[in-house]
Amino acid sequence: MERFGRLQTLAVSREDSATVISVARQEALNALNKAVLTELETVLDALTADGPKKPLIITGEGARAFVAGADIVEMADMNPDEALEFSRFSQRIFSKLETFPAVTIAAVNGYALGGGNELAMACDVRIAASNARFGQPEVGLGIIPGFGGTQRLARLVGMANALDLILTGRMIKAEEAFRIGLVHKVVDEGKALEEALNYAKAVMKNSPFAVVQVKKVIYATITGRDNGMEVEADLFSACFAHPDQKEGMKAFLEKRPADFQEEG
Ligand code: COA
Repeated sequence: MERFGRLQTLAVSREDSATVISVARQEALNALNKAVLTELETVLDALTADGPKKPLIITGEGARAFVAGADIVEMADMNPDEALEFSRFSQRIFSKLETFPAVTIAAVNGYALGGGNELAMACDVRIAASNARFGQPEVGLGIIPGFGGTQRLARLVGMANALDLILTGRMIKAEEAFRIGLVHKVVDEGKALEEALNYAKAVMKNSPFAVVQVKKVIYATITGRDNGMEVEADLFSACFAHPDQKEGMKAFLEKRPADFQEEG
């Protein structure tokens, strides 16, 4: 498969200082459906096999969204087995991104919600435009984060902030994301990609071999995460056996508030 150019759901370009992957589903605010995830895995595998010489930047096409989450239309009718498979499949791809043998940078140009925030968190560095918005709104849909978010968010911002964001599902502005340590830098609207390219250029001056060793050792010190990922996938799947998931997603698609069951 050709790794560069305009693919079905991604645009992949070769810049001087980085390879740039843009999620290209603007009609759904770049939401991650299976087609995007499959293509992302194919591109990551191909770039990894080439032996990447440059950093990798992930961004979203258009001015509104980085990625507004996993695709709710696609998830709405999933059963627990399909949800388990979806969670494991996405965890695997994001783990390939995390272990990609070069620096990875998320240029967050707009909404980074749910799976979008999880995608950004699977990168080594996050640069946000001032209009970027972050959040894990899953509980409002009757589910939990299922693409590694329960594990990576707590690592990055501490358990207190992770609980706050995941339990409320609230959306935060780029400045707050910077304050809690979720993003490394905030730049003017429209400038996230440019700044990510500058960042990539700075990293390129360093030894690529040493950079990869840093990634290996930093991520190797994360203990207990394999188990955490398994629990996440299992509980993500369990949500799809509860009526709240059907109601939460139906309500989103019908553009109305969800009417969840009271727990007895
Ligand atoms: N999956 C599927 N479609 C999505 C989507 C998602 N995660 N996020 C947005 N879209 C679609 C909308 O359904 C809408 O489609 P339509 O034009 O066919 O109605 C289109 O993208 C534009 O979104 P819209 O909601 O009309 O824009 P908005 O400016 O009013 O709101 C958001 C923007 C990001 C606040 C809102 O789209 C949102 O809350 N999205 C879902 C976020 C989420 O819960 N993600 C986690 C999923 S696990």
